[in-house]
Amino acid sequence: MRVSGTGHAGMRIDTPAGSILCDPWVNPAFFASWFPFPDNSHLDWETLGRADYLYISHLHRDHFDAEHLRRFVSKQATVLLPDYPTSELEVELRELGFTSFVRTRSNEPVALGDGLTIMIQALTSPTDGPIGDSSLWVEHDGIRLLNQNDARPADLTEFAKLGHVHAHLLQFSGAIWYPMVYESPAATRNALGKRKRSRQIDRTIRYIDDIKASWVFPIAGPPCFLDEELWTFNDLGADEANTFIDQQMFIDLYHGRGHANGVILLPGSEAELTEEECAVRHPVSDVRQFFDHKEDYLLAYRERQRPVIEAEKASWRHPAIDVYGLLKRRLEPLLDESTYLAEHVDGPVLLDLLDDDGKSVESLLIDIPARQVRRFVDEEVSYRFSTKRTLIEHLLHTGEADWVNSLFLSCRFSAKRDGPYNEAVFAFFKSLSRERMQYAEGWYIDQQPDAEDVTLDGWVVQRRCPHLKADLSRFAVIDGNVLTCQMHGWQFDLDTGQCLTSADHDIRARHSN
Ligand code: FES
Repeated sequence: MRVSGTGHAGMRIDTPAGSILCDPWVNPAFFASWFPFPDNSHLDWETLGRADYLYISHLHRDHFDAEHLRRFVSKQATVLLPDYPTSELEVELRELGFTSFVRTRSNEPVALGDGLTIMIQALTSPTDGPIGDSSLWVEHDGIRLLNQNDARPADLTEFAKLGHVHAHLLQFSGAIWYPMVYESPAATRNALGKRKRSRQIDRTIRYIDDIKASWVFPIAGPPCFLDEELWTFNDLGADEANTFIDQQMFIDLYHGRGHANGVILLPGSEAELTEEECAVRHPVSDVRQFFDHKEDYLLAYRERQRPVIEAEKASWRHPAIDVYGLLKRRLEPLLDESTYLAEHVDGPVLLDLLDDDGKSVESLLIDIPARQVRRFVDEEVSYRFSTKRTLIEHLLHTGEADWVNSLFLSCRFSAKRDGPYNEAVFAFFKSLSRERMQYAEGWYIDQQPDAEDVTLDGWVVQRRCPHLKADLSRFAVIDGNVLTCQMHGWQFDLDTGQCLTSADHDIRARHSN
């Protein structure tokens, strides 16, 4: 088995029974904030893209690069699809021209033929990626590889059960805006950054210790920040509170804790795996020296990408958009559908919109508990996000349904909060479509010990649709003993509880008398 690094979380896995291209990402993501590090644009993508299988772990834009997939990846490739609750990933890939899909079931191995077997574990809570994240396990000829990328399963038992893993590829670096964007005193931010950095290293090593692979590859980060406004987020070695540590720093720390099996995979590196050996060929003569000169490398990379960043920035401006009016029209119907999230956000969110000089030009309140968007006058808020108006204009222009997978991961904002982190705030901002909102609401409600029932037309049925958790008190139509959920049209036989549209989605139902 050969593993070729294609940058960030990307790789191509070659076996005699077929090749799998994973998460190819080249174009800048999240408002041109994140770029792959090191640069991978020079790779021979025409050749890499002629793969038998394509695996996109999830829809975060540093894993799902639509433009790159459209241009370079063969549409003959069969997509290995994680078992996600929403069809967004499949829909996006079909729009790009992919037509062949293997729909996997979470934690169930699939034999692809000629001795090549895969298993995908899908994580489906609203906090896993953009509603869904996954890991890919691959076996051929007794060699096993786990591409965990940035998924965070509760444990790795399902993979460990399948036998010794030879290559474990996983995230180790930061991939979020916390704590850098928070408006706290520098000393506090520094302490939080150090704590976050050390926690993410500990978590990575815990995963490594769990799976005990022969070789460990730190992947899926860090990105680099080439816009001058964000340059300070690059870890250039002097700041122990920087969460974006690079591969060499991680390997040094990891080996410093008594391990010796860490392998760096640069874009263009090739690792040949056998039971006993991992022979690696790199595109540079000295990997450590490459990282020693990281700052110069990034400065040159920044110059190359300057026109790209300028062009991106020019595309965000839509001054004719009535931000207040459009936000109100888009968000209030979603807020009306929210019960769990509205009850679990503890106060209004202030959105402070800034001009290019950083001056506030408009202040809006997204009052999630009150299910209302209104202009801010002067009142207590729980969260405050300040960002350029142009970014919100662009989100509204494109109809973005996931502000985490766009604005928040861009780090192009600052934040202040009153009290601790509130997951429901970010779950709300990644659920800005009806389908996502219904799923997130239902998922959280299903975590409650006593999942609710409702009485409808003489039947007591579970309140949330077994498909994507739509609220059946609003979306169900009952005709005799058949319930139709109007969210996607799935049907259920209420006498038997059986789902008539798909296997394994039975409903809890009984007559009400
Ligand atoms: S949520 Fe899809 S059919 Fe009910």
